[in-house]
Amino acid sequence: MSIHFGVDYYPEHWERERWETDAKLMKEMGVQVVRMAEFSWFKMEPQEGEFHFEWLEDAVNLLNQYGIKTILGTPTAAPPKWMLDKNPEIQPIDREGRRRRFGGRHHDCQSNEVYRAHIKRFVTAMSEKFADNPGVIGWQIDNELGNSHADLCMCNACRLNFEKWLLRKYGKIERLNEAWGTAFWSQGYNKFSQIGTPLVTVVGENPSAMLDWKCFCSDLIVDFAKWQADIIREKCPNHFITHNYMCFDDKVNYYDLGELLDFVSNDVYPAGHWHPQPHQPLYETAAAHDVVRSYKKQPFWIMEQQSGIAGWEIMGRLPKPGQISAWAMQSVAHGADAVVFFRWRTCAMGTEQFWHGILGHSGKPGRVYDEIKHLTETFAKHMDAFEGSMPNPEVAIVYNVRQNYAFQIQPHHPKLTYVKEIYKYYRAFYEKKIPVDFVQDTDDLSKYKLVIAPLQFLMIPELEQHYFDYVENGGHLVLTMRTGVKDATNLCMTDRELPGRLGDLCGITIPEYDCLLEATGGVLYGKKEYLIKKWCDLIELKGARSLAEYSTGFYKQLPAVTENKYEKGIAWYIGTEPGNDLMEDLVEYFTRRSDVATLGTAADEVEMITRETSDSIWLFVINHTDDEQVYHLHGWYEMVEGEREEFLQPFEVQLFVKRKK
Ligand code: GAL
Ligand code: ZN
Repeated sequence: MSIHFGVDYYPEHWERERWETDAKLMKEMGVQVVRMAEFSWFKMEPQEGEFHFEWLEDAVNLLNQYGIKTILGTPTAAPPKWMLDKNPEIQPIDREGRRRRFGGRHHDCQSNEVYRAHIKRFVTAMSEKFADNPGVIGWQIDNELGNSHADLCMCNACRLNFEKWLLRKYGKIERLNEAWGTAFWSQGYNKFSQIGTPLVTVVGENPSAMLDWKCFCSDLIVDFAKWQADIIREKCPNHFITHNYMCFDDKVNYYDLGELLDFVSNDVYPAGHWHPQPHQPLYETAAAHDVVRSYKKQPFWIMEQQSGIAGWEIMGRLPKPGQISAWAMQSVAHGADAVVFFRWRTCAMGTEQFWHGILGHSGKPGRVYDEIKHLTETFAKHMDAFEGSMPNPEVAIVYNVRQNYAFQIQPHHPKLTYVKEIYKYYRAFYEKKIPVDFVQDTDDLSKYKLVIAPLQFLMIPELEQHYFDYVENGGHLVLTMRTGVKDATNLCMTDRELPGRLGDLCGITIPEYDCLLEATGGVLYGKKEYLIKKWCDLIELKGARSLAEYSTGFYKQLPAVTENKYEKGIAWYIGTEPGNDLMEDLVEYFTRRSDVATLGTAADEVEMITRETSDSIWLFVINHTDDEQVYHLHGWYEMVEGEREEFLQPFEVQLFVKRKK
């Protein structure tokens, strides 16, 4: 059987005598793999050049005796104090120009050459040490790259790297001046060496410069990871390399990072204290899994799956009985081949004393332990059958990290964020039990019946053409407000009215628009009036037909949503942010027109999703509530275990299969 369940383990936090008890308990619970060591540089190298891997080797070997394999983390997210004392310049500089200090984590600059040299030294020693250890199967590089500090460092090493990056991109300073629009506010540069990192200004920022800075920071992180990946690839050719992502996090372009990895991993905390309570909306967690699956177009691992109360100084809610398992199987349903729980035992020391694990502080197995044991016993045996398989959705949502950056720089509306806008569209499909893929805007769209491309703000001729080609050949495309506003360097386009050439595809132009701020507006769709928010494009029809009209504002009766038949396909345009009701009804209409199938019907909190192998379709039905639920499936699926009754116990997960003919 392949590996499907594991835990994050920190033997260095506990006395040696306990380790064997841990190994036994893990084995009984169904643990097949642990991740270790990603925060233990000091323990492995207490003085420069003095390596102590023996404790880790001891732990790896002990676990291996129990049949538990190890993924090793490189500890570069927390360099030790002796290193920073010797080379204080490793510590990053923030936007106020202050040096950030030791005492937390991520206190490193990723450009710093001295730090890179330390990493090279250390990762070489560590990977040589464990290359042939039969207990080790793979590596996690660093930890959550981009967490906390990615675009933080404003130091001179980062400045020099940024200068080189800009020189490569623009070649001549005149081209940069043009691309950044430096004629505005006298921001022109005479030479590349004058360009600084974006320290705080008195007021305002240059949006084009900020976009380049964000892209540069992403490239820097990829380069930082490659620095380690190259060493591990050479020393440990039989081990895989992965990294633990953070869902939609954007500090590093996860598509680029994925090119270095054998597979991507993700960290999932649906009830982290920062989410709305009692937990993150289900559709957001589901969307996060789907976007993670898109980063390499491959199944993934969960490297940290919540297993108790999550929080540092402030704590989130206690997951209810069965809820952790339902979240874990949600991960699997969306494409995870393995789920590693964070963490084995709640730590007694440090910042994360209250970020709870499967075992509490006392180390005594209890309710959560029993729950996860039951989960592994129930599902591990089936998971080989669909390992490596992917869902096969008919609907795609376009996701692009640069669009996200552009909206972070200029959100337009105080509450508009690119990812939240994506969630709004995703949600309508999710609750209708319609699976969705995330795609990059360069991907082949032709396999999808319906493509939603929200906020296509930055536009280039190739992307316009891509959308034309898709629709011409029969595709159904939804474009939205703020499409075609800017060019690739974040300057406003001036050659046509909005939405640029895509106006021909949509059969519209948009001579004016309105930002609603705190006001809400209305539209009439069919006979009903609906709430809209944030934005109104004042649309003029140029061949399209209006589907819905504004019912508020001086532009009352102007189209808010339009439909244009174009060659073999349809282009819809939504000039506002629909409230939930309008979104649901529009998506209902779009899916009907595109002939998109739903998997079934049930309450919003009952999730349905499939993974397909060459001969079978595996369907997961997950009850995310603590109530009993009924549901109805569209199409015949055989239940893998038990009687098919279309009925779910609280937090129950049911697995079905349909054999393809
Ligand atoms: C993750 C991180 C872990 C641990 C956990 C709980 O973001 O990767 O190292 O910090 O959160 O805070
Ligand atoms: Zn720096």
